[in-house]
Amino acid sequence: HPHLGHGPAAVEKQHLAEQAIEKFAHTQPAGESDPDPIHPVPARLLDSAQAPTPHITDLAEYQRMHQQSLADPDTFWRNMAQDLLTWQRPFTQVCSGSFQDGDVSWFADGELNASVNCLDRHALRTPNKVAIIHEADEPNQSRSYTYKELQLEVCRVANLLISFGLRKGNTVAIYMPTIPQAAVAMLACARIGCIHSVVFAGFSAESLAERILDANCAVVITTDQGRRGGRVVNTKTIVDSALQRCPSVKRVLVFAHTGATDIPMDPTRDVWWHEVVSRQRPYCAPVPVNAEDPLFLLYTSGSTGKPKGVVHSTAGYLLGVASTVKYVFDAHPGDVFACTADVGWITGHSYLVYGPLALGITTVFFESIPTYPDASRYWQMVQDHKVTQFYTAPTAIRALRRLGDQWVNRCDLSSLRVIGSVGEPINPEAWNWYNDVVGKGRCAVVDTYWQTETGANIITPLPGCVRTKPGSATVPFFGIDVAVLDPHTGEELTGSDVTGVLAIKRPWPSMARTIAGDHPRYLATYMEPYPGYYFSGDGVTRDADGYYWIRGRVDDVINVSGHRLSTSEIESALVLYPVVAEAAVVGAHDEVTGQRIVAFVTLKPNTPSGVEADAELIKALILQVRQIIGPFAAPKAILVVDELPKTRSGKIIRRILRKLVANEFDTLGDISTLNEPKVVMSLLQIIKEKL
Ligand code: WTA
Repeated sequence: HPHLGHGPAAVEKQHLAEQAIEKFAHTQPAGESDPDPIHPVPARLLDSAQAPTPHITDLAEYQRMHQQSLADPDTFWRNMAQDLLTWQRPFTQVCSGSFQDGDVSWFADGELNASVNCLDRHALRTPNKVAIIHEADEPNQSRSYTYKELQLEVCRVANLLISFGLRKGNTVAIYMPTIPQAAVAMLACARIGCIHSVVFAGFSAESLAERILDANCAVVITTDQGRRGGRVVNTKTIVDSALQRCPSVKRVLVFAHTGATDIPMDPTRDVWWHEVVSRQRPYCAPVPVNAEDPLFLLYTSGSTGKPKGVVHSTAGYLLGVASTVKYVFDAHPGDVFACTADVGWITGHSYLVYGPLALGITTVFFESIPTYPDASRYWQMVQDHKVTQFYTAPTAIRALRRLGDQWVNRCDLSSLRVIGSVGEPINPEAWNWYNDVVGKGRCAVVDTYWQTETGANIITPLPGCVRTKPGSATVPFFGIDVAVLDPHTGEELTGSDVTGVLAIKRPWPSMARTIAGDHPRYLATYMEPYPGYYFSGDGVTRDADGYYWIRGRVDDVINVSGHRLSTSEIESALVLYPVVAEAAVVGAHDEVTGQRIVAFVTLKPNTPSGVEADAELIKALILQVRQIIGPFAAPKAILVVDELPKTRSGKIIRRILRKLVANEFDTLGDISTLNEPKVVMSLLQIIKEKL
């Protein structure tokens, strides 16, 4: 293994294994509990008078297909790829390569174009069908775009990008709110074989610059401003400030979204979308790309170090999202799919843009927040657009549940058939509310487990045939061969009622292929912690029925409102502040956001302290994190302490901090390895006072 050694990748791998073991070493064995309630498939779904017949209505049929997808993956995925995708040049090979070698490929000699799959083939057959409904930040201002309109606009933008000098294989940064033009920008890149790198518009200028530099982007596409819940986000100003550090960027294309008049434009670099796009020819020949050519990269937080640019292939990725929209969301031609995710995250890529458009259904872009102007917003949207699939995050469900059923009940939700959850474990109380109050017991609830790296849902119920248990993501999707591993030994735990780390045993089409510019890190993060397996970073239990229960991350990733954050990134931002000596960040339980960020800092000697000085400092530190990462990464609490718990060799023991903030004093584990066992008492004091 030439890539192994003592470089950063080797450190990451070592770190991951230690983390997983540490997280499991001190978990209490699960006690006997009551059998989980099982929900049958809702009768309405199986009644052809009320709903289109689900693609799979019989559990045995799911089992047969899943079995076949593992026994003969080549035949299974060949058929699926011919059925769901349109190829410019047919493939003859299906899967090759392995996790160990890091050379997995799917359909390697095939050629296709993602924008043809998402636009042209539908624009030809159903030109006037609505492709995207824009549910704008202000209610009652929605606008629709047909497949034909979308195709024409994508072609114009693609031609403009060519005129900028972009060619196949170049990477384009997109920093936009969740509006249809973000999809236009993404598909325009795909049309000419460019790779897009969408950066969530909640990231700071600093983070944006880091991502633009890492991917060596020459063009950025943005808006004048964004709007969320009536508040303005100055996207263009943030881009300007990021670009001070990015001399490689030669062009910025700016879509006038809010129409603000005082947007500074650099005449040598910046152009307005409305001035230049309309001058372009609305046809652009799609560039056929190889199945394995990258469609996009998307940065995500890892356990250590800087964010990783996760790279997705064109064909395998499209097949993953198209097949899951079809089977997991049970899509049918007349459907209106509303996924409330931001386009800047993987859920937005897969279930706002590529999945629904690949199948030629209607997708709703929700630009606002669930409580603007009031807590009926989602449900009003469902009613107005007759949404058939609704897909959101547990955080939103928990927040809305607290506000009361009346906000839901005043709307007509009878169009809904499938309601989904994603991003974090959903607690049974929230699941039940979603099922009863939103779904009225008539909809399938799909708790979909997946990751940026998996590209598409991998553990999830299928609406017409899988019975559900609140809190369980249930069963593996086609092609997904799940293993539960003992975190210490890496042995596979077979049978039922086992808990360990979640791993996958064989390649699947939509898995990430590499990390941009750092393949050794890809191998070290996913393939090497448990050789022969893809390591997810999550803990999992398989119960007596073979159902999977996701137990959250076993690494240093925390999940706040479904936003994935790395504790070490936040720590790095904190220690950049001059008076901070050390920082340790942990995730604590939160009733609404799932986890919240709690940071501990120690100060350099002779730093003034006291109640007021500390309060000022904490404000400054929160600002620091907002500026370096983005507002969504700001810690909920920052505690200034004298000392952090450390091993004798000086390593901070975050496990103890996690246990202390969770009030789990009796399971602190072995504290005799601590350099100063009495640190625990003083930390406990501070936590009791301040948290
Ligand atoms: C967590 C989001 C429990 C998990 C699609 C995973 C979940 C991380 C679920 C990926 C779920 C996602 N139940 N946990 N249904 N879905 N997660 O990359 O910890 O932003 O590893 O992708 O979210 O987050 P990411």
